[in-house]
Amino acid sequence: MSALSSPVCHSCSASLPEGARFCASCGTPVERFDQAPEQRVLTVLFVDFVGSTALAQSRDLDSYDDTISGFHELAETLINTYHGMVLQRYGDGVLACFGLTEDGEDAAVAAIACGLSMIETAPRRLDGHRVRVGIDSGQVMCRVGQQGALLPMITGLHVNRAARLQECAGPGQLTLSGETRDFISRLVTLDGATSDFEVLKGIDRPVEVVRVTRFAFRPGTRTGDLLIAREPELDRIAASLARPGGVSVIEGPPGIGKSALVAEAMRRADPRPVLYLAARQNLRRTGLMPFATGLRPVLGLPHNASSERLGQALRTFDIKAGEEDLALLAQVFIDGAPPVPHLTLEQQRLRRGALLADLLGHAVSARGGIIVFDDLHWADSESLGVLEQIARSETHPINILATTRPASQLADLIERMGAEKSTLGPLAPPAALRLLDETTDLSEARKDEILRAAEGNPLFLVALADRARQLSGDGGATPLPQSVEATFQAIISGFGAEREIILTAAVLGREFPMEHLQLLHPERWTLEDELRVLTLNGLLNELEEGFSFSHVLLRDAAYNMLPRARRREIHARLATRLQAEEPGYCAAYPEVLADHLIAARAHDAIPGAAIAAGIKMLRNVNFDAAISYFEEACEDVEDQARRSNTWHPAYISALTLLASARMQRLGFAHPDVLKEYEKLELAIGLARGTDRERCIALYGLFAHRMLSGRVRDCGAIIKDMRALDDGASDEITVLRLVNETAYHFYAGEFEAAEKAGRALKEIYDVERHGLLFLEIGADPLASVRSVDVQLAARSGRVDHALKLIEETVAHLKSIGAISQLPWIHIFGGSALHAAGALDEAERQIAIGHKLAEEQAANFWSFLGQLWQLLLPLDAGETGAIVDEFEALLVAGEQMGVQLNYPIFWTILAKARAIDGHCDAARKWMIRARELLDRHGEGQHAEMIAARNREIDAILRADARYMGAIPNA
Ligand SMILES: Nc1ncnc2c1ncn2[C@@H]1O[C@H](COP(=O)(O)OP(=O)(O)OP(=O)(O)O)[C@@H](O)[C@H]1O
Ligand SMILES: [Mg+2]
Repeated sequence: MSALSSPVCHSCSASLPEGARFCASCGTPVERFDQAPEQRVLTVLFVDFVGSTALAQSRDLDSYDDTISGFHELAETLINTYHGMVLQRYGDGVLACFGLTEDGEDAAVAAIACGLSMIETAPRRLDGHRVRVGIDSGQVMCRVGQQGALLPMITGLHVNRAARLQECAGPGQLTLSGETRDFISRLVTLDGATSDFEVLKGIDRPVEVVRVTRFAFRPGTRTGDLLIAREPELDRIAASLARPGGVSVIEGPPGIGKSALVAEAMRRADPRPVLYLAARQNLRRTGLMPFATGLRPVLGLPHNASSERLGQALRTFDIKAGEEDLALLAQVFIDGAPPVPHLTLEQQRLRRGALLADLLGHAVSARGGIIVFDDLHWADSESLGVLEQIARSETHPINILATTRPASQLADLIERMGAEKSTLGPLAPPAALRLLDETTDLSEARKDEILRAAEGNPLFLVALADRARQLSGDGGATPLPQSVEATFQAIISGFGAEREIILTAAVLGREFPMEHLQLLHPERWTLEDELRVLTLNGLLNELEEGFSFSHVLLRDAAYNMLPRARRREIHARLATRLQAEEPGYCAAYPEVLADHLIAARAHDAIPGAAIAAGIKMLRNVNFDAAISYFEEACEDVEDQARRSNTWHPAYISALTLLASARMQRLGFAHPDVLKEYEKLELAIGLARGTDRERCIALYGLFAHRMLSGRVRDCGAIIKDMRALDDGASDEITVLRLVNETAYHFYAGEFEAAEKAGRALKEIYDVERHGLLFLEIGADPLASVRSVDVQLAARSGRVDHALKLIEETVAHLKSIGAISQLPWIHIFGGSALHAAGALDEAERQIAIGHKLAEEQAANFWSFLGQLWQLLLPLDAGETGAIVDEFEALLVAGEQMGVQLNYPIFWTILAKARAIDGHCDAARKWMIRARELLDRHGEGQHAEMIAARNREIDAILRADARYMGAIPNA
């Protein structure tokens, strides 16, 4: 296009006579142009309503008018959305230009995006009618009008070319000139475009007409492709990567250029393959998220892949995974993969970590590859554990390059990984200036201002440059912000209509699906276009599913712009809409709903939602997340209770689950687990819950008291359970009967125990009760069977006891409650010991101990170890073993491990007596006696009495012993 010098009307482009104050053809007041004209590259878009003539003939005039005005509204709304300017409205067409307020290339891309959107949107919003679009770019003379805005002097020629290009397009097509294509070619590729030279009416030379259906940004044209002044750092990284197994961690504040640096290091590492992993705060709380998202493309796996497909993918890396391993890895890569039966949750967690480390070893090390791990500070503990295993692996030495913001909690890990840590500092002033010159065209004064404020932080610098560009019309009058956050906030405020979109999107998180944002803006049909505009402006990135903020600090800045009450209101509205419109999504991702309700402080809903989210996390073997949701539920209830003095009914359930999750993660004896049960003891008197929830809580409490030998205290729980059991729920009856069996047995009331056990076996049904163990941490039938084992052994039927153990083991395996196996064997072993079947006892305890070690079940392993010492001690062995037993018991007591101590102290007393340490023997006897009296254990009473008699005899026979003998 060429510039035109004779004056034209800025509204209708008609020629104006010299000195005219109004346009003779359209009546618009003529703008006076005071300043000198300015040449700009503008992009002109012409959109035409297809088939208007036919429509006019076939319909009544009113409906024709409605359709055409609908078309105008659609075209103009989209033009405004893409920051274009409507220049002229025709009967069935609209002329617009892009590039008056923005950079020419970006504006041309916006014009194409706008045209494509018109083509796609029109049939949907205009009753199936279609439009066609023509686009052309070129130099245009512009002048500043009276209102201060730049106005183009579009001539008939420009209009003509765009209109002719549009005529070449078929209905629902977009064409542009070869000039426009060349103009934007640095930024985008036009996938699938075709072109021809065509002779257009009224234009002397043939014009290249390009038909476009979509475009894509060229990689690296927008951000992060250029790295300035980091050569020394890159050399250091290269040296570390050259050492086999070298691990290097780069630390630095936000925006200093850590990710940009490793991106360049990755490019330079070529041809070595690089596996890029990045931790992110993620709304869906996926366990092992960096590995899942980083490896999925390498393995070529979609989210919903089948496990066969996973198996195939693994085979390409020479990994032949068995069925169980495959199921464990499926948990990492496939959405909604179930827990793996026959392994405890903790076992699953450990095994899949090891498998993943092995997979990475094969996939990366064998090919001489490198692992880049960005943003260590956001990684979950399980992911960090896997990374550590890889870093320390001797079989597969792999180079790791990681980045982190300063994070003191990572210091130990970095040391254990044997990593070299280096700190990334600010850019030196000349480098900062170069970066500024590369990114924008600004006045010297502005550049100085930016350099001073940014202090060498590239992110701050680039953001300030963007802000300065936004302010380019103000002649440098507006001062620039003084922090990264304030700069992002100013940029966001600088957007007119899109500001609201940015702010609400921030509530959804760093990444968000468009559909969820639409729930917050149901009336806004241009939402997708607005998001695209924000993408064109570099604020968002388009992902496969949805969008993400281009920098997390941008998201945080937007979020912080919302007043707290408004933020909560949006979170709450979103939660409500999600529940109403997307029940399927809420069921699949209860954690997203819970997160919004928590942020909304929607107290009524938080406990329930957080519990649902936690249960899902527990099923996915994502302990950390599960525990944090249960904690959230508990804290919320406690917080509410402090203010209103009423206890939310879900409290009992939340505490029970929290205790059970911690127990599965840390084992029975961990102090945190014990604390949880103490809390539950208190809560049971405060909150009520449903009968079932209450019963499950009581069940957990019972087990906890029983394990610490507090038999008498368990009686109160039995009473409570009886009050709850009105016969209406067989689950409650099952739970009550299990506890009654155990209670009578431990109290030494063997007949009553047998009777309760029999009643339970009559109503127990695997189908209906077989999964109770997931909630209560123990299978009801196995509990009762274990008492049967004890009773059989006591009555001397050793073979029967062994058969019962075998049957119980088979039952537990069949329902997947394998965390109880160590207990069945060890507890069974103790029964066989009481019956005098020492070899059998030893064998069972050894099996139980080994299983406990495999399951990393600390409590049972400790108990197994104790019993393995107890058996030979009780048989009269002396020497170092006595000290070992004593040390273990004392340590256990100090750590707060809950055991039935009387039996252990008594055995120790006997061993000490045999050893000739009479004072010590007496001390341990008294200790045992006191505990027995306090807690009312009857189960071992007989054995303890028998041992006491033996000790008594030894002490009396010992001439050196002068002290009194405690009453047995
Ligand atoms: N040396 C450099 N030369 C040119 N651009 C740079 C340089 N360093 C950083 N940048 C640019 O600055 C911005 C911020 O850098 P980057 O994202 O790498 O920071 P970061 O340290 O990884 O921050 P965060 O801790 O938030 O992840 C990016 O747009 C990046 O491209
Ligand atoms: Mg980064």
